[in-house]
Amino acid sequence: MSTLFSPFRLADVELSNRIVVSPMCQYSADDGCANDWHLGHVGMLANCGAGLVIVEATHVERHGRITHGCTGLYSDENEAAMARVIAHCRRHGTARLGIQIAHAGRKASSQRPWEGGGALKTGADPWETIGPSPIPFGEGWHVPRVATLEDIARVRAAFVNSVRRALRIGFDAIELHYAHGYLAHSFMSPVSNHRIDQYGGSLENRMRFGREIAQAVRAVVPKGVALGARITGSDWRDDGLSVDDAVTYAKALKADGIDYIDVSSGGITADTRNPTTPGYNVPIAERIKREVGIATRVVGLIVAPDQAEAVVADGKADMVAMARAILDDPRWGWRAARALGAEVPRVPQYQRAAPKLWPGAAMRA
Ligand SMILES: Cc1cc2nc3c(=O)[nH]c(=O)nc-3n(C[C@H](O)[C@H](O)[C@H](O)COP(=O)(O)O)c2cc1C
Repeated sequence: MSTLFSPFRLADVELSNRIVVSPMCQYSADDGCANDWHLGHVGMLANCGAGLVIVEATHVERHGRITHGCTGLYSDENEAAMARVIAHCRRHGTARLGIQIAHAGRKASSQRPWEGGGALKTGADPWETIGPSPIPFGEGWHVPRVATLEDIARVRAAFVNSVRRALRIGFDAIELHYAHGYLAHSFMSPVSNHRIDQYGGSLENRMRFGREIAQAVRAVVPKGVALGARITGSDWRDDGLSVDDAVTYAKALKADGIDYIDVSSGGITADTRNPTTPGYNVPIAERIKREVGIATRVVGLIVAPDQAEAVVADGKADMVAMARAILDDPRWGWRAARALGAEVPRVPQYQRAAPKLWPGAAMRA
């Protein structure tokens, strides 16, 4: 019996298995609006065999986008465009659907990866970014304007607004993006936060930005809808966030009403590098699951079916998230099910591809 393919419950959301498609920016939206690219792309992922698909980092205000091509939920047009994509996925896909809600902070106003991935240059319609302190992400990056208390309150309200839009669209899960160097992570990390007010200094103060948003969002997300946060397991720097900090943060967010934690890491400055070992965040997730007692997901170089199976079967995490392996093979879940002797739900149009219907079940091996 495969544990990877056993069901899992998040709030009132019944997932058919433990595979989650990690959020992946497509940099292809029109002023925050999802379009036909997203219809095809998320539609495909909704049939990859994963129990849950998390839609890409979707931003709470126009200036909170990473690039000109990032999705947002800051306008009625954005909401209608995303609703069209999600209606399609629900009608024609098998996965439950979540969305990541984000603010890019000092990493906003940047080029799409295929345009260079650096800060937008003069002439490319750059905009002013905000951060906890006037420290750029790296050389050549915008120096962020220091977020005032008014900015902090505005961004918090914008998170709540975008979450309300996501709820109207009917997402099963809402995920707060608190990792990868974006605004919430930059408040949490001592590398990027040098403030001396109530949002800087002690760990308690640095957690405040994310905690206040989590509390405000929880107040509007019904109990049955899963609310999660993707956090930083480590900054991978001596002067940065440690695994102990991640455990403390996860405990605090649990107390604020968060239902699950996704463990990612890295990205606080342009020059930090993540480990390249398979499943490099798994030991961090294991500690969080054990010490915090919250539904835990882990991401990062999980690629092979038996590797993913071991993570959940050995109790190191409850779910695995995968990004690049699923982009590479959008039927990864089907292939993993075959390898592990399990089944995945399939839409009627694709039933005839189910291995049990193949002449000669030996194909399964
Ligand atoms: C094309 C692409 C877009 C990504 N966009 C996001 C995103 O929107 N939000 C996020 O938290 N991580 C994003 N990531 C990071 C992935 O979700 C994931 O954490 C990372 O790729 C490590 O997992 P992997 O080894 O399975 O690829 C992106 C990764 C890729 C490859």
